[in-house]
Amino acid sequence: MNEKLVIFDTTLRDGEQSPGAAMTKDEKIRIARQLERLGVDVIEAGFAAASPGDAESIRAVATIIRNSKVCSLARAFERDVRAAGEAIRPATQDGHAGGRIHTFIATSPIHMEKKLRMQPDQVMEAAVNAVKLALEYTDDVEFSAEDAVRSEMDFLCHVFEAVIAAGATTINVPDTVGYSIPVLWGERIRELIQRVKYADRVIWSTHCHNDLGMAVANSLAAVMNGARQVECTINGLGERAGNASLEEVVMAVKTRRDVFHCDSRIDTTQIVPSSRLVSQITGYPVQPNKAIVGANAFSHESGIHQDGVLKFRETYEIMRAEDVGWSHNKLTLGKLSGRNAFRTRLSELGIVMESEEALNSTFARFKDLADKKREIFDEDLHALVSVDGGIDTCDRFKLVSLKVCSETGETPHAFLVLSDGGAEIRADEFGGGPVDASFRAIEKMVESGSTLLLYSVNNITTGTDAQGEVTVRLSRDGRIVNGQGADTDIVIASAKAYLNALNKVFGAGERAHPQV
Ligand code: KIV
Ligand code: ZN
Repeated sequence: MNEKLVIFDTTLRDGEQSPGAAMTKDEKIRIARQLERLGVDVIEAGFAAASPGDAESIRAVATIIRNSKVCSLARAFERDVRAAGEAIRPATQDGHAGGRIHTFIATSPIHMEKKLRMQPDQVMEAAVNAVKLALEYTDDVEFSAEDAVRSEMDFLCHVFEAVIAAGATTINVPDTVGYSIPVLWGERIRELIQRVKYADRVIWSTHCHNDLGMAVANSLAAVMNGARQVECTINGLGERAGNASLEEVVMAVKTRRDVFHCDSRIDTTQIVPSSRLVSQITGYPVQPNKAIVGANAFSHESGIHQDGVLKFRETYEIMRAEDVGWSHNKLTLGKLSGRNAFRTRLSELGIVMESEEALNSTFARFKDLADKKREIFDEDLHALVSVDGGIDTCDRFKLVSLKVCSETGETPHAFLVLSDGGAEIRADEFGGGPVDASFRAIEKMVESGSTLLLYSVNNITTGTDAQGEVTVRLSRDGRIVNGQGADTDIVIASAKAYLNALNKVFGAGERAHPQV
């Protein structure tokens, strides 16, 4: 009988710490619903003390999600733990899978001395107090020793013993800076489990960053040495080089059950849809050669490989594409589809419209798209609601119209009309190309003074009538945001993406970073 491996997804918290990946409440709810469908055990929905908006998003996720536990991160301080406890409260009610508080404090000499400016005994006391306080809100309390990788073993054991005695139920061992290598990480986990008193009363967890490209390998080494929870994110999103990628961890454990002797409750056919949704919402594209979810992950180029696969699939395939959800990209709707079919398909995809008005406006945009594009796929529907800016009626800037004159030998010239909080403004500008001219015209009106860090275009589906999905990354006053836009006309998609980024630049309030 295999043991259970708990999958703790932190896309909405650590994943959101990727530059520019900040998500709105609606976006978090959509991802949370997909994570629930995917079958993750725990959804870390955010860091409640970061801002009132973050707390509100966690509360909303905790209210809606029923089949996964919902968790908030909290530094080991009273204010943070109380904010987390309040935010997850709906998940602790009957009919829900439960609410977790994940409290943490750094235990390495470098972090204690230089960042926290605390003595080890003060850190120990803060950790114990935070766990005790968290237990007033929920009986599911996780404790993490930040920078465990560079912490002294004896001290780490003492802290873990103290928080287990205080009532922590999960002990997480993070490689916060992505410094370890599999053999050492496995040994560290094994030693902790052997040395810490009452280690058998808790679930041991690992949380690995990918700075040296070993987050997944280190997480798997931890599993081989007794960890029974892995913290991970969809597409490996996360602070700096990211976290362990959920899809890689899950498929490694499933494909090599002979080695890991563990099972997760993940519905692997939901992996590709989850990857697509997170990529669309955050604007972080998935590289084509990314394991499991990259466009090329199951395509065979070489003649020898193709021949082998045709003769007997397992010659070159260790997993089946359909098992991770690649066959899910089915043709869904067309020009003649009605409002009910549209609503049903959205709800099958986990997209719930907040109001009839939102449904009507999205349906109208769907009809516009169906006029331009014969076949509408699931990916188009996701783009329609997530990157088109259509349902977020609070946006300050909206594109009213765009015209670009572009011909050989002439300088491209863009004419734009925007709505700025309801008032129409207009400008025209020349540029190096139609997109450049459009962005210059927008800046002429808005004067944001932002720096363009990234501009990328991807086709959402195949064919020349496919929608182009554009990501624009802007930086202003030290803040980085991503904007997305989609349209069958990539100049329009680009203008929408630029405006989407500007709405975030002007809209988002101050948030605290959990690890500062
Ligand atoms: O990387 C890290 O150490 C973290 C902790 C808060 C678990 O994200
Ligand atoms: Zn982390």
